[in-house]
Order: sequence, then structure tokens, then C-alpha cells
Amino acid sequence: MDFKDILHLVRDDFSAVDACITANLQSRVPLVSEVGEYIVQSGGKRLRPLVTLLTARACGYAGEQHVNVAAIIEMLHTATLLHDDVVDESSLRRGRATVNARWGNPTAVLVGDYLVSRAFQMIAGLNSQDILDIMADGTCVIAEGEVLQLINQHDPDTTEARYLEVIHGKTAKMFEAAAECAAALSTPALRPAMAAYARHLGAAFQIIDDVLDYTSSAEVMGKNVGDDLAEGKPTLPLIQAMLLGTPAEADMVREAIRTGGLDHLQEIITLVQRCGALEYSHERARQESEAAIAALAPLPASSYREGLEHLARLALVRNH
Ligand code: IPE
Ligand code: IPE
Ligand code: MG
Ligand code: MG
Repeated sequence: MDFKDILHLVRDDFSAVDACITANLQSRVPLVSEVGEYIVQSGGKRLRPLVTLLTARACGYAGEQHVNVAAIIEMLHTATLLHDDVVDESSLRRGRATVNARWGNPTAVLVGDYLVSRAFQMIAGLNSQDILDIMADGTCVIAEGEVLQLINQHDPDTTEARYLEVIHGKTAKMFEAAAECAAALSTPALRPAMAAYARHLGAAFQIIDDVLDYTSSAEVMGKNVGDDLAEGKPTLPLIQAMLLGTPAEADMVREAIRTGGLDHLQEIITLVQRCGALEYSHERARQESEAAIAALAPLPASSYREGLEHLARLALVRNH
């Protein structure tokens, strides 16, 4: 089963999700719709709504609200990307100029705010206290994760535990909300299992993302690589390089994190690739992926459950 086969399982639902997003990007202010459509229709992987749709079906849901939940999740995810690219001063996203690069920071921040507000308006329309609770708590934790990351930036003493705290907030929590809302719609008893599945999937996904920043290319990723080092971000590959390298190599990495300089970029990429830091990171991601699959145990057998299982495996071998 490859990614296309997984998408195929919920193909019709996905058309409805896209229609729902497009309808909800309409605003009486033309710039809002223009920028919203630019970013939403630029070819994101739609992983989080995929998790929502598969989870709802795997939990036996037969209604239609999972489509709205999936659309809401993708809109919230997109809002975090608009804001993240401002914070990270990134110029490339989904193979195109970022909104901040093309329209400027104020537009990116304000349209991001609009997407969050619109998403909560849609949540209000669902009349579900459970979904409101999950989304409200989740978005707070995500924002906290981004702020925690800001605190770790330029700090070479950041530990793996602190790194994990960041990725659980900024990335895993959105996956968790995507799955937990879907379970809440259908079989609330499955909420803890589905939340655990998606939390582990999200952690694996972000660890691999941090590996790709040292191994991929802008053409394949659709976003610039090497940015983490340039920004002095102590991600897992760098944390490990400091532990596995010689004292002189560790000092070079510490200095690069402190200054965010690119003076030693090539040397550091070579070190990260050679010292075992990538293998270590891969192994951590693999453990997360296995934990995700193990969490699916309470689910009845179905093609949707298989799709979720494969998604956790594919997260490890993705190249963009
Ligand atoms: C990007 O997420 C942000 C991270 C958590 C690394 P995705 O890689 O899922 O982004 P899109 O939606 O496919 O562009
Ligand atoms: C991901 O953070 C953005 C969020 C989860 C909010 P990163 O800064 O690590 O991801 P990219 O590389 O910009 O996609
Ligand atoms: Mg970023
Ligand atoms: Mg960031």
C-alpha cells in the first residue's frame, strides 16, 4: 500500500473536504480569499485531514461531520505554517514563494489569524463540546510548542527531552487533535488509543522532517533545507552530533547553534551525516512509528485501520 492507495480509501470524503475548505475561504475582503487560496491550494500533503478521515471510518463513523473536522484541521495547520514562515523567515513553502515572501509579514500574520478564527467559527457550527475542547486545548499547546522552540533557539545545551517537548507541542498535537476529534465523533472509548496513535505518528513525522533538513534538497522538499542550522535550531540530528562527535566537532556545532552562523555549514552537514546522528534520529523515529502502530490494537480490523498502519510506516521513508 503506497500513499496513493491510502488516499484512495477516503477519496470521496477528500473531495468533500476540499470543497468545504474552498467554501470557507470566501471572504468579503478579496485579499483574504486570494492569499488563503494561494496557500491552501498549493499542494500540501493533506496528512492531518487524512488521519481524521481514516480514523473516523476506522472507528465506524457513518456520519458526515468528519469532513468538516478534516477541513478545520487543515485550515488550522495552514495557519500555523503562515505564522511559522514569518517566525522562521522562510521564503519557500510547498514549492512556491511563502506568503510572507510574496505579500509581506503583515499579510501572512493577519491571514493566518483569519484562518484560525474561521476554523473556530466552523467548530462552533458543529455543536460538539468534545470537539471544541480538543481544538481549543490543542491550539494552545501548539502555540506553546512554537514558543518553547523559541526559547531553545541558539541554546546548545538543549537536551533530547526538551527537543521532544517542542515537537510534541508544535507538531504531534495537531495530529493528535486530528485523530481524537474523529474518535470523539464516533466511538469516544477509542479516543485515548487514537490520540496515542497520532501523537506518536506526529513525533516520527517531525523527527524525519528534521533529518530531511540535513539530507534532502529544496527541489524535493518544496522548502529550503539547511534552515534549521541557519536559525540555530538544536534539532535531534545536531543534539546527537554534539554527543557523538569529537570535542572539537562538538564545539563547532555548539558555536553554530549559538550564532546561527553558516560559516561551518558544509562541515556540520558532513559531521551530521557521518557521525551516526542520522541513524540515531531514524531509530528514534522508528520507535515512534512502532508505538503508533501498537496503539491501533483496540481498533477492529478494516482497510482504514490498515491505512493508518501504513501511514505510520510511510512516515519513516518519506522524502518530502
Ligand atoms: C510541515 O508539515 C510542518 C511540519 C510539521 C514539519 P507538512 O510537511 O505536513 O506540510 P504540508 O501541509 O504537506 O505542506
Ligand atoms: C513546523 O515547524 C511548523 C509547525 C508545526 C507549526 P518547522 O519550522 O520545523 O517546520 P518547517 O520546516 O518550517 O515546515
Ligand atoms: Mg519553519
Ligand atoms: Mg519553525
